[in-house]
Amino acid sequence: MKIGILGSGEVGKALAIGFASSGHQVKIGSRDFENSKLKIWANELEDLILVDSFEKTATFGDIIVLAIKWDGVENAIHLANPENLSHKTVIDVTNPLNFSNGMPPSLYIGHTNSGGEIIQRLLPKSCIVKTLNIVNNHTMINPTYNEGIPSMFLCGNSENAKKQVTQILKDFGWKDITDLGDITECRIIEPITCLWIKYGMKHNTWTHAIRFLKH
Ligand SMILES: NC(=O)c1ccc[n+]([C@@H]2O[C@H](COP(=O)([O-])OP(=O)(O)OC[C@H]3O[C@@H](n4cnc5c(N)ncnc54)[C@H](OP(=O)(O)O)[C@@H]3O)[C@@H](O)[C@H]2O)c1
Repeated sequence: MKIGILGSGEVGKALAIGFASSGHQVKIGSRDFENSKLKIWANELEDLILVDSFEKTATFGDIIVLAIKWDGVENAIHLANPENLSHKTVIDVTNPLNFSNGMPPSLYIGHTNSGGEIIQRLLPKSCIVKTLNIVNNHTMINPTYNEGIPSMFLCGNSENAKKQVTQILKDFGWKDITDLGDITECRIIEPITCLWIKYGMKHNTWTHAIRFLKH
């Protein structure tokens, strides 16, 4: 498949490498796509990953990944042009984190709204699936920890899009994958990130993840 990744931060790059390693064609988008650091990074990967504007990346992808800082999400969607994303699965890994009061961040929204729902409203013709937002970018692909493979969640309104994303998660190595329901379930998935950050600060670790144990 052709994967268009909007966002060239740590998450965008980690997922670009993950998708390319699984045999997909990958384009990564940035406002500053002529940026030499990004070009050097892509060149070092033997041009396995193309670099382009948000708009061309959105046009390229059959599946889109939204890996944008929350404050820039609306602008990135505007630059990508919602029409270029229509009728496509959009994997949303963003978290609506507010760092204005320092660490730990709080959520801009919650309880009766969520980042995923806002994105779905900005992209009414797209199928948003929220997932992977609760782990560090280093462990989004091949999530093998000393104590096993953590739990992963997803939610979204389109059953087909969720099936597609579940398969992608399995290809990446996830096993305990739970579809929580429609996009409003982002209201419970996004706050998990705050718990993850708080735990990291308390224990000075950033390689942890959440796993539900059963007996
Ligand atoms: N870091 C992690 O391990 C992790 C894990 C789970 C979830 N997340 C979430 O994933 C998202 C991406 O995180 P990240 O750490 O990779 O990087 P980030 O610094 O949060 O975001 C980087 C991307 O956001 C874009 N961006 C920033 N402001 C923008 C604006 N005003 N308009 C358009 N685009 C803008 C940048 O575009 P340009 O390339 O054009 O500068 C860049 O591509 C965030 O929502 C984060 O909360 C992160």
